[in-house]
Amino acid sequence: MKKSVYTKLLVILVIMISVGIGFFLTPYIMKKQILPENKYETIALPAPSYESSTSVEEALLKRRSVREFDDEPLALSQVSQLLWAAQGTTDPSGKRTAPSAGALYPLEIYVVVGNVSGLSSGIYKYKPAKHELLKISDGDIRKQLSSASLGQASIKDGAITIVMAGVYERTTSKYGDRGIRYVHMEAGHAAQNIYLQAESLGLGTVVTGAFDDAHVERLLNLQKDEEPLYLIPVGKK
Ligand SMILES: Cc1cc2nc3c(=O)[nH]c(=O)nc-3n(C[C@H](O)[C@H](O)[C@H](O)COP(=O)(O)O)c2cc1C
Repeated sequence: MKKSVYTKLLVILVIMISVGIGFFLTPYIMKKQILPENKYETIALPAPSYESSTSVEEALLKRRSVREFDDEPLALSQVSQLLWAAQGTTDPSGKRTAPSAGALYPLEIYVVVGNVSGLSSGIYKYKPAKHELLKISDGDIRKQLSSASLGQASIKDGAITIVMAGVYERTTSKYGDRGIRYVHMEAGHAAQNIYLQAESLGLGTVVTGAFDDAHVERLLNLQKDEEPLYLIPVGKK
């Protein structure tokens, strides 16, 4: 056979192998992007409590950033309460604990779980409408998340880290570029809710803005339109 025929056959073979590999690997590479949410395991959270012995004024007075935590596990009810405070619903219309420009709710809340009784270590996504968690993946990634946040020990030592992500398009589609600042303001509202709720539960927390965005996106396998805004470790103080 002529050399040119060999070359053509080789090129065709290489193309066919590449297409084949792409066809088989794409679903695995894109797994988290294409799986519909109803394919994830869901975990119902205990109903939040609307009463406490700590007044808003007391929580405001005592709130302080805490970066060192005990090794004791959090209860699932405490995780539930913190998530509700961050973005839980408070109204049948779907309105939430924190205000949102145009009620467009651009924040998505993930929880990196490492030490919670009744909830295995892993990455979960909070769904406010049903007050439930979707299990995204198994395993304790607190050490890796700490590395992604310039080695901050609070992230490694907290029982959980709440990861707040923003989907800018949800708000910029109505408000243009001004929507970017609205999303950041909303992250601040939700984060302060977490601080006050943690104080009321006798827990410690600190908001952390110092981290490598791309590293956090990779570790949590965030959706393409989700930008990480805050990492918020919580633990017993
Ligand atoms: C936008 C923002 C980013 C922050 N990033 C970090 C951080 O990466 N690491 C950290 O330990 N604290 C961080 N903090 C917490 C501040 O250091 C803390 O709020 C400040 O020292 C005041 O203390 P207080 O919260 O106890 O009143 C951040 C606070 C804000 C508002």
